[in-house]
Amino acid sequence: MVLSKDLIASSSKTLVIHSFPVKGLVKQILANPVVLGGITLAALGSFWYFWDILKDFFRQNYLRTLVISSDNIAFHWVIDHINKQSRRQTQNLSLDSKLKYDQQGNGYLRNRFHPGYGTHYFYYKDRWITVTREKDKSLSQSITSNINRYWGSKSRAQEWVNLTTYGGSPNFWDEFLQDASKDEIKQKNKGLSIERFRDGYWEEFGKPRRKRPLESVILDGSMAKNILKDITEFIESSDWYIENGVPYRRGYLFYGPPGTGKTSFIAALASHFGYSIRMLSLNEPSKDTELNFALNDTPKKTFILLEDIDAAFSSREDDKDKDEEKSDSKKPEEPKCKISFSGLLNAIDGVASAEGRIIFMTTNYKERLDSALIRPGRVDFEAYFDNCTKEMVEKMFQRFYKNQTDDLCREFINTAFSLDKPISPAQLQRYLTKHKQSPLQALEHVSEII
Ligand SMILES: *[C@@H]1O[C@H](CO)[C@@H](O)[C@H](O)[C@H]1NC(C)=O
Ligand SMILES: *[C@@H]1O[C@H](CO)[C@@H](O)[C@H](O)[C@H]1NC(C)=O
Ligand SMILES: *[C@@H]1O[C@H](CO)[C@@H](O)[C@H](O)[C@H]1NC(C)=O
Ligand SMILES: *[C@@H]1O[C@H](CO)[C@@H](O)[C@H](O)[C@H]1NC(C)=O
Repeated sequence: MVLSKDLIASSSKTLVIHSFPVKGLVKQILANPVVLGGITLAALGSFWYFWDILKDFFRQNYLRTLVISSDNIAFHWVIDHINKQSRRQTQNLSLDSKLKYDQQGNGYLRNRFHPGYGTHYFYYKDRWITVTREKDKSLSQSITSNINRYWGSKSRAQEWVNLTTYGGSPNFWDEFLQDASKDEIKQKNKGLSIERFRDGYWEEFGKPRRKRPLESVILDGSMAKNILKDITEFIESSDWYIENGVPYRRGYLFYGPPGTGKTSFIAALASHFGYSIRMLSLNEPSKDTELNFALNDTPKKTFILLEDIDAAFSSREDDKDKDEEKSDSKKPEEPKCKISFSGLLNAIDGVASAEGRIIFMTTNYKERLDSALIRPGRVDFEAYFDNCTKEMVEKMFQRFYKNQTDDLCREFINTAFSLDKPISPAQLQRYLTKHKQSPLQALEHVSEII
């Protein structure tokens, strides 16, 4: 109280200033630890106060945040990209290991290191970008992992990254996203990507392969052309299906002896239409609901391939025979299919069927299939893939040896067919590959074809 009175007094001109030296006053004030602390706090307080205002102002006016949730197609590409750009700068890594399978079906571990949860910084095009990766904590862990299980690699929005930078315009972000997805898209466009259903997930089956031209698979007569026409028509007539209320899906059954190019032709078709392939073995899903999820959670432009469909379900009579056999002579159990036949039919009919779904089924033994499975609506187009006809041998011979006379080709065909044994296209191809340098040698050793 006294102090303040004196201060007021000292500011009025009438008083002699020297009677109470200001220096001494300041010294005295500063000597008092309580006052000093108060001043410091006030200074700091107002600094933080203004700093907060400044930050808010700055954030509102100059910072742009891009929020990408994990159901966005680019989410993983962005995370990968950030990771590549900033290996040094992101300290808090999280690990994503997957059991993958190579083309021979051998398992191997693939590790990916991502920016973990928390905040990271990285530098891109003259700008620092703050990355905050967060997880939705409202979903409990068990629910999350179950959803993950059924939804395969795609999970629902339960995780997101916020990218914040100074003055990031939509154009800047677009550029960033284009950059981030460039490699992935290039890979996808270049190759044929094949996924396989394993342990409840769809996952890449090896790297995207080289696209396969349609001409590389030799089929009899106009079969290739007919199949191609049917699929093209289907793909182009979505309006018709929607207008007429017909479920927009189509099933193809390719049957015939082994080595006749059924699967190869499907790969060639996928390459031609720019589709990817999802391959499912019916022995894989552990229950009907899993199969249902597997078939109905299909992205656009994807062929579903059910290979060797007879292996899981032979017709019902066969089933009975097998059961009796089993009880008589205790045969070792084959890898058993864990889904039910009605579960399979339901999944194919799919109430929640994805738009424009195309399913291919292949079998070496059509006669073993239950008629309910190949009824129209489930199978709309059947094609028989045969062993080599003369015409097919001719086509393949000419594809291997470009500039040969017709006489040589005709002689080759006649000799091959005089063996009087069926030749599968796979056998012929293997044989011609062996003698690819010399058509004359191919003719000479023709009896080794089989
Ligand atoms: C690193 O990640 C953990 C786990 O999510 C998180 O709690 C922590 O805050 C992060 N640390 C940094 C520095 O971001
Ligand atoms: C990130 O974005 C989400 C969604 O807009 C928001 O809820 C969250 O608070 C943001 N996190 C940060 C650190 O900005
Ligand atoms: C095939 O013949 C054409 C001309 O008839 C020639 O230009 C070409 O080089 C030949 N190709 C091969 C593989 O011998
Ligand atoms: C097709 O050819 C293979 C290989 O020679 C043979 O084992 C099979 O019995 C043939 N099938 C038919 C239906 O001709």
